[in-house]
Amino acid sequence: MAGDGYRVGVMGATGAVGTTILAALHDRGFPASEVVAFASVRSAGKELEWGGRTLTVQRLSDESIQGFDVILSSPGGQVSSEWSPRFAAAGATVVDNTSFWRMHEDVPLVVAGVNDEAAEHHKGIVANPNCTTMVMMMALAPIHRAVGLERFVVSSYQAVSGTVQ
Ligand SMILES: NC(=O)c1ccc[n+]([C@@H]2O[C@H](COP(=O)([O-])OP(=O)(O)OC[C@H]3O[C@@H](n4cnc5c(N)ncnc54)[C@H](OP(=O)(O)O)[C@@H]3O)[C@@H](O)[C@H]2O)c1
Repeated sequence: MAGDGYRVGVMGATGAVGTTILAALHDRGFPASEVVAFASVRSAGKELEWGGRTLTVQRLSDESIQGFDVILSSPGGQVSSEWSPRFAAAGATVVDNTSFWRMHEDVPLVVAGVNDEAAEHHKGIVANPNCTTMVMMMALAPIHRAVGLERFVVSSYQAVSGTVQ
């Protein structure tokens, strides 16, 4: 991190998740020195309004991925499988929201506020679970710690469009 904050990249910035990530970065006053929006070549050059500034969407390339502290990733699993390791190799810590890295043995699966300590020994990529699981864990973890849960039966109803990613 430079003295004036983290250099942050949002991979999938034009998507449903990326748009929300950008809004959260602004609303929570994340200490970013710079925020760079990445999406596909289809969106490269498009302008996004962010916190009173204009972000010009960048395409992913060996040149454009250099020099980041943190990457917040939601470009779909296939794109993340290729580009998250490249960002990590270039020195960034990638927090990935896709399903691709969730069961990878070298990638900690972290729910903020539940098992933060698992992120300590990451190797450049940190995954998070499906959104349904993640939200449930926040409520169930304290109950589990207090009394021990043996079994939890749940049904969730997911968007069919999510199966393609
Ligand atoms: N962990 C969670 O809680 C959670 C919750 C919901 C979704 N997700 C996951 O988040 C991911 C995104 O979901 P979404 O609903 O935001 O999808 P979406 O609206 O379709 O957005 C996809 C984003 O990825 C970009 N993209 C697509 N192909 C690309 C490429 N070849 N190179 C670079 N960028 C590319 C798109 O850019 P263009 O606009 O240029 O096409 C867009 O910004 C999925 O993997 C989904 O499973 C996670």
